[in-house]
Amino acid sequence: MDVKDCWAGEITDPTTDSRLLFRRGPGGTVEIVDLHVGGEYRREGVGRKLVDLLVDGLKFTEYKKVYAITRKENRIAQDFYRGTGFRLCGALKGFYPEGDAIMFVRDVP
Ligand SMILES: CC(C)(COP(=O)(O)OP(=O)(O)OC[C@H]1O[C@@H](n2cnc3c(N)ncnc32)[C@H](O)[C@@H]1OP(=O)(O)O)[C@@H](O)C(=O)NCCC(=O)NCCS
Repeated sequence: MDVKDCWAGEITDPTTDSRLLFRRGPGGTVEIVDLHVGGEYRREGVGRKLVDLLVDGLKFTEYKKVYAITRKENRIAQDFYRGTGFRLCGALKGFYPEGDAIMFVRDVP
């Protein structure tokens, strides 16, 4: 396997116990694998900052879309992605053992 075909990374903010994990997807895409903001620091713009850092870092690269997947029941995550420049792009029935998933995408400018 070519190592360039398999990479992942993380953006962390230790002061707020927050992190965003991402990995390369197919065809010039990047997927947010995990995003977590420390409980007492939510609604302060930390999640937005982490996502913006990822998208800004992909400018001038071949990666033109960032995908995020969340549980259908996770309304806060869906509000978050809608509120940070993502748009709904699909539903994945039975994606999680406990239920369906919703998929969002944001263009890299
Ligand atoms: C989802 C999560 C990462 C959001 O992080 P955050 O730092 O609180 O989000 P931000 O403060 O940057 O919010 C950005 C925008 O998202 C939306 N938003 C965030 N939290 C929201 C909430 N509880 N209710 C409604 N809208 C919300 C708003 O539009 C907000 O903009 P505004 O504050 O100017 O109105 C955080 O709630 C979290 O870690 N949740 C638990 C883990 C999780 O569900 N991760 C996502 C799994 S994919």
